[in-house]
Order: sequence, then C-alpha cells, then structure tokens
Amino acid sequence: MARMKNGEARGPGKVPISLVVNGAERTVHVEPRTTLLDALRHELNLTGTKRVCNSGACGACTVLLDGEAIYSCMTLAITCEGRSVETVEGLSDAESLHPIQEAFIEEDGYQCGFCTPGQVMAAKGLLARNPHPSPEQIRHGMSGNLCRCGAYQKIFASVENAARRMNGEHS
Ligand code: FES
Ligand code: FES
Repeated sequence: MARMKNGEARGPGKVPISLVVNGAERTVHVEPRTTLLDALRHELNLTGTKRVCNSGACGACTVLLDGEAIYSCMTLAITCEGRSVETVEGLSDAESLHPIQEAFIEEDGYQCGFCTPGQVMAAKGLLARNPHPSPEQIRHGMSGNLCRCGAYQKIFASVENAARRMNGEHS
C-alpha cells in the first residue's frame, strides 16, 4: 500500500497510474511497489531502458523525469503520477536520430552498447542543464553511469560532440 501526499491510500493491489511518457499520456496498472523501470519495460514494452544492477549502482536504467536524469530502478512508478518521463525511445523518430545519438555513432561511443541508452539519457539531462560543459563537467556529469566495456574516453568524446551539435558548432 502507498500513502499519497493527500492522505489517500492506494494498493496494495494494482492501481492505475497516469504518466506522460515521451509526450504521450499513458496509464499503467501496477502495484504501488513497482519501480518506474519495471513499469516502462513490462507495462509499456519500452525495453530500451535497461535493467542491470536494479539497485542504483550502474545507471543503465537512466531516464529523464521532468527533465532530470534519474535511476528508474530506484523510483517507484506511483511517485511519477502525472509527470513527464522521457526514455531513449522518445529521442528519435522514424526519419532521424537525435544529435546525441548521432554523436555517439560518430565517436564510436560504445562497445557492447548495453549501457548506451542510459549514457545517452544521462547526456541529455546533462546538456539540458549545462549546454557548454567543460571536459571536467562532462566526466562529473556522466559519473553515475558505468560502462563495463570501459569505453569512457569515447563516451566523453561523444558528449562533447553532442554539445557541439546541439549548439550548432558541429561541421
Ligand atoms: S539498473 Fe538502475 S542503477 Fe543499475
Ligand atoms: S559499451 Fe558495453 S557496457 Fe558500456
């Protein structure tokens, strides 16, 4: 059971939760103990968001919640009621990739690619709050996202490349 801010008790069985996912209103039916990660993957089939440690240690599950990068495995879906959730699936359309995705491709910012959706979403959150990050700020801003392949130098180069693209400085 979850006690909402207005005192309302919800659960412990499945309850409807309205989210705005990648700009569209969606309703999931989950128990109050369900994480945002599991709601995205199992209820909405948005499997780009990865479940790796499931304990707030790796960043593979990073999504944007009201524009801020968060670990979706450490966030209950019920606390996201009515809020904006952005996943990697929301970045591109059928025609074109997001500049951050193009930057990761150009810089070869991955090896196995399993951490990449989380890295890309962390980069989006970072560049939204700091469009001109220094190399040091990029390392700090991306420090919540582990890469078991150790592709860090190319990931950092990808974020620099993405910043140039988003600032119209990429040729
Ligand atoms: S899966 Fe969420 S931090 Fe690792
Ligand atoms: S590219 Fe393999 S874990 Fe990062």
